[in-house]
Amino acid sequence: MSIKDEVLRELESHKGNFVSGGELATSLGVSRNAIWKAIKNLEKNGYMIEAIPNKGYCLTSNNDILSAQSIERYLNYHLNIHVCKSVSSTNTVLKEKASQGALHGTVLIAEEQTLGRGRMGKKFYSPSGTGIYLSILLRPDIPADESLFLTTSAAVATARAIEDVSDKKAEIKWVNDIYIRGKKVCGILTEASFNIESGKLDYAIVGIGINVCFPAEGFPPDIDNIATAIFDKSSDSINKRSLLIANLLNYFMEYYNDFESKKYVDEYIRRSMIIGKEITVLNGAQSADAIAVEIDNACRLKVKFNDGTEKWLNSGEVSIKVNK
Ligand code: BTN
Repeated sequence: MSIKDEVLRELESHKGNFVSGGELATSLGVSRNAIWKAIKNLEKNGYMIEAIPNKGYCLTSNNDILSAQSIERYLNYHLNIHVCKSVSSTNTVLKEKASQGALHGTVLIAEEQTLGRGRMGKKFYSPSGTGIYLSILLRPDIPADESLFLTTSAAVATARAIEDVSDKKAEIKWVNDIYIRGKKVCGILTEASFNIESGKLDYAIVGIGINVCFPAEGFPPDIDNIATAIFDKSSDSINKRSLLIANLLNYFMEYYNDFESKKYVDEYIRRSMIIGKEITVLNGAQSADAIAVEIDNACRLKVKFNDGTEKWLNSGEVSIKVNK
């Protein structure tokens, strides 16, 4: 890690408070002049740092630049966080890194995606500055058919993290979407590489896209009446994004490390917004109207079709649309 990154880590962990140049120099084992240079560099990168002789340096509370350091200060787990301004798709890039040997626990976060992807080959609208697009690389030692828990536990983790930073109620639309007041605020796309010999996963990528604020120009017409954001005004999101990401990762890793206990499942079921609702089940080119009846402990959805027949649905095969 560069001196600049280390200084930023110290300043982020004391955000709003002064740290003396001498203390920084001692704890990082470098000269005070090196600290001063790092501070100047950070200022060039847009950080607002107050400097007072005999007091030191203070990263002011209104700094809202997303960085590994701004997230790590809230993290309970050791994860390898990378933040970038723009990528094609955090899932695509992390998949490449995974196939080149990137480690379990690598997290890629972007403030914009130019080719964001959703389930069933759909695009995921990922404009700059108003959303969080992140992917987590995992190397789980589990059979492939148990991997649905990655998506469902990520949905619970994200819903909880959204509620931590806002006064909005976050509900789950089976299987991978988070809704606020009947509109989609987040989608999750889990992709995996299957090892035929072991019957297990080589790696899995859990990709989560969250609309944090409304884009200034509004959502594009095709999603305008189905999409929403956590915050109405971008000013409401100041200093919330890092905490949101860290809480999401903390909850997710807690579930992941103890996945056999399935302790997120009750909450997944409780947060479901579709039970008792009229839905359309979409399976390729086919569609059929039904009522969503219940979700079981394996997060399968039981539906009752209009002809009275009932069926348990697995998420891999189908998607659903909630009808008004
Ligand atoms: C969906 O709505 O069907 C799922 C959307 C998943 C979007 C996230 S954003 C981060 C990661 N990178 C992608 O390209 N997709 C996922």
